[in-house]
Amino acid sequence: MTKSASDLIRTRISTRAFLPDPVSEAEIRAILDIAKFAPSGGNLQPWKVHVVTGAARDRLVAAVLKAIAENPFADEAELKVYPDNLWEPHRTRRFTVGEQMYALLGIPREDKMARLMNLRKNFEFFGAPAGLFFTLDRRFDKGQWAHLGMFMQSIALVAEERGLATCMQEAWTTRAKTVSAVLGVPDTEQLYCGMALGRPDRAAAVNRLRSERAPLAEFVAFHRD
Ligand SMILES: Cc1cc2nc3c(=O)[nH]c(=O)nc-3n(C[C@H](O)[C@H](O)[C@H](O)COP(=O)(O)O)c2cc1C
Repeated sequence: MTKSASDLIRTRISTRAFLPDPVSEAEIRAILDIAKFAPSGGNLQPWKVHVVTGAARDRLVAAVLKAIAENPFADEAELKVYPDNLWEPHRTRRFTVGEQMYALLGIPREDKMARLMNLRKNFEFFGAPAGLFFTLDRRFDKGQWAHLGMFMQSIALVAEERGLATCMQEAWTTRAKTVSAVLGVPDTEQLYCGMALGRPDRAAAVNRLRSERAPLAEFVAFHRD
């Protein structure tokens, strides 16, 4: 039975362990062909996507892991994943979801090396056979960045509908220069985010993470009368 939009939004999670089973280009094209109906102001459709599978995926992963090995603490990010001095309630939300994930993985707070190694799995797409990278023309402003987000969420939901899973990955921005060089992204385009795409490993503990959401009272104001 097809899942409703409400079901898809509720069941999508950030999947952080995938099966190696390939996802065909036809399947990825079909997902993008639906997701492209995401709205964008003025119908600009500002997004560009680079899809990596097969040998191209493996080459990219190898190049980035090599760069990490050579210079583990390099940061090629052009935009901050989080603002400095993150404030409440966002600070606690970020901390909580991290701790919940590491608890499922059985990695304690003190085991910095295990946490670092886990972070590194981002750069292997958590084992997913396909990766997507989203770029925007540098001339675009905040509005178009928001529209790109709508497109990305649409991809995640269509993937979910098809029994696939995703994880959005801003982690790749820390290696934006390396990724852009390998994929031939021109300087006029800024790499925003990656996305792992594949079949979820349902046996993996990390995929049991259901992150919490704040109640409406914390973020909605109804103006009446
Ligand atoms: C734009 C974006 C980038 C993200 N980047 C990463 C990432 O690099 N690595 C990761 O493990 N999770 C990443 N996440 C996943 C978030 O941590 C996750 O969406 C959040 O904790 C809520 O959990 P859920 O997606 O399972 O509902 C990202 C999410 C978004 C929307």
